[in-house]
Order: sequence, then structure tokens, then C-alpha cells
Amino acid sequence: MSNNIEGKVVVITGASSGLGEATARLLSGEGAHVVLGARRADRLKSLTDELTGRGGKAIAVTTDVTQRDQVKKLVNTAVQAHGRIDVMINNAGLMPQAPLERLKIDEWDRMIDINIKGVLYGIAAALPHMQRQKAGHFINVSSVAGHKVGPGFAVYAATKHAVRALSEGLRQEVKPYNIRTTVISPGAVATELPNGVTDPAAAERIRKFYAEVAIPAESFARTVAFAMSQPDDVDINEIVFRPTRQEI
Ligand SMILES: NC(=O)c1ccc[n+]([C@@H]2O[C@H](COP(=O)([O-])OP(=O)(O)OC[C@H]3O[C@@H](n4cnc5c(N)ncnc54)[C@H](OP(=O)(O)O)[C@@H]3O)[C@@H](O)[C@H]2O)c1
Repeated sequence: MSNNIEGKVVVITGASSGLGEATARLLSGEGAHVVLGARRADRLKSLTDELTGRGGKAIAVTTDVTQRDQVKKLVNTAVQAHGRIDVMINNAGLMPQAPLERLKIDEWDRMIDINIKGVLYGIAAALPHMQRQKAGHFINVSSVAGHKVGPGFAVYAATKHAVRALSEGLRQEVKPYNIRTTVISPGAVATELPNGVTDPAAAERIRKFYAEVAIPAESFARTVAFAMSQPDDVDINEIVFRPTRQEI
């Protein structure tokens, strides 16, 4: 394992597009065995076909991260296929930004269910295996909004602050099990994320912002590879990165 990536079993939620898809592609190219979860089965299948067609090992498991049994099945599929799980990337998320006064309460619920509870279900599914192995690595996806709050994204920012809090608590608790814990906080990266914004004014503002500054999804994948490829006694805990042009 010269790059500390080759041969590793990596589970990625939200692998059907954006950051998860780019990460699956990069890690598979580096020799990782990827096990990919998301709801859009057709997208997962074409990605796994592409990766296996290039000689990689990739498995797709249709997964809704709001359903804890489905997340457990995703992780258990990886363990059954490969005998272990080395890295759990809790990446699935959505960002329907809108001012609180719009009262988009269903969207608040979905952000809490996917961005927070989905991460917890990923931890719950992978932690027992990693404890048994006395090895593993959690990579949880927060955001610059996990560091900054602003008008129009209070709930999204709250969910991403929660991801950082959970990750830091997890980091401290898993010391006896030799588990590494990384939280990655991206700025604007060109993915399908802005498509989930339903408030017209917010959608227009975000579309314009992303068109001006967003960087390719491979930027995120490289940060994952950086954290994974450190020697086992080095635990990269936090990475914040932005497009060079992004101010806040
Ligand atoms: N792009 C950015 O600028 C940026 C910045 C900071 C943080 N992030 C974070 O990065 C993560 C990935 O987002 P992205 O930018 O790659 O956006 P994206 O292209 O929209 O991808 C989101 C992924 O999450 C999956 N997903 C959504 N709901 C799900 C559910 N209930 N169960 C399982 N999977 C679900 C989607 O798959 P299905 O729809 O097929 O289920 C998709 O694969 C998110 O946590 C986001 O908050 C992104």
C-alpha cells in the first residue's frame, strides 16, 4: 500500500453525483475498492460500470441515508464483499438555502434528516466494524457553512456545524480503536448542489455565485486522497478549502 489508498475498502454516501462521484473516480483510479451509495440507482450503475470497466473494484448499493437500515446494508455489503471497511465517507447532503421567514419547514426537516442524521447513521453502521478491526477512518463532509453563518442559510449552516461537532466528539472517543477522523469543509465546488434551492431569489444568487467562483469536484477528491494517504499514525482532522476567488 504505497499510497495508503490502494486496496482500501472505501464506502461513499452520495456517490451518484458531485463530490462523491469525483471521489469514487479518483480513489478507484488509485486502487481503492469503492462501495457506493445514493438513491439514484441508474447513476450509481453507470459509475460502477465505468470504474470496473477500467479494472477497478466498485459496488453500487441503492441507499437512502435517512433510512438507517439502508445505510447499515451499504456498509455490511462492503464488509461482506471485502472482509472489512477502511474508510467511511459520510458525504450525502443537500443545501436548499432560503431565509427562515420563508418557513420552508419541510426543507429544514430534510436537511436535518440527510445532513445530520444521515451522517450519524453512517457512523452507527461503520463504527462497530472499525472497533473490531482496531482500524478505520471516518471522513465527514461539512462546509465553509460549518464555520460561517449568514443570512439565508441558517439551517444549512446549523447542520454543517453539527457535522463538525459530531466529528470532533467522534475523534476524541475513538482513540482506543486506532480510528482516524477527518472533517472536510469545502467552499463553492461545481456540483448539482445548487439545483436543490427552491427559493427563487436564493437560487438566482447562488447560481450566479457558483458560476463566478466554483472549482471542479476533483478539488474535493484530492483532499480526501491527501487525508487517506498519510501514514497510519497521522490523523488529518480538519480541512477547509475554497476557490481562490471565494471571499467568505
Ligand atoms: N458543492 C459545494 O459547493 C459544497 C460545498 C460545501 C459542502 N458540500 C457538501 O458536499 C456534499 C456533497 O454534495 P455535492 O456538492 O456533491 O452535491 P450533489 O452533486 O447534489 O450531490 C449530493 C449527493 O447526495 C446524495 N443524496 C442526497 N440525498 C440523499 C439521501 N437521502 N440518501 C442518499 N444520498 C443522498 C445525492 O444522491 P441521490 O440524489 O442519488 O440520492 C448525491 O449523490 C454535501 O454534504 C454538501 O452539503 C458541497
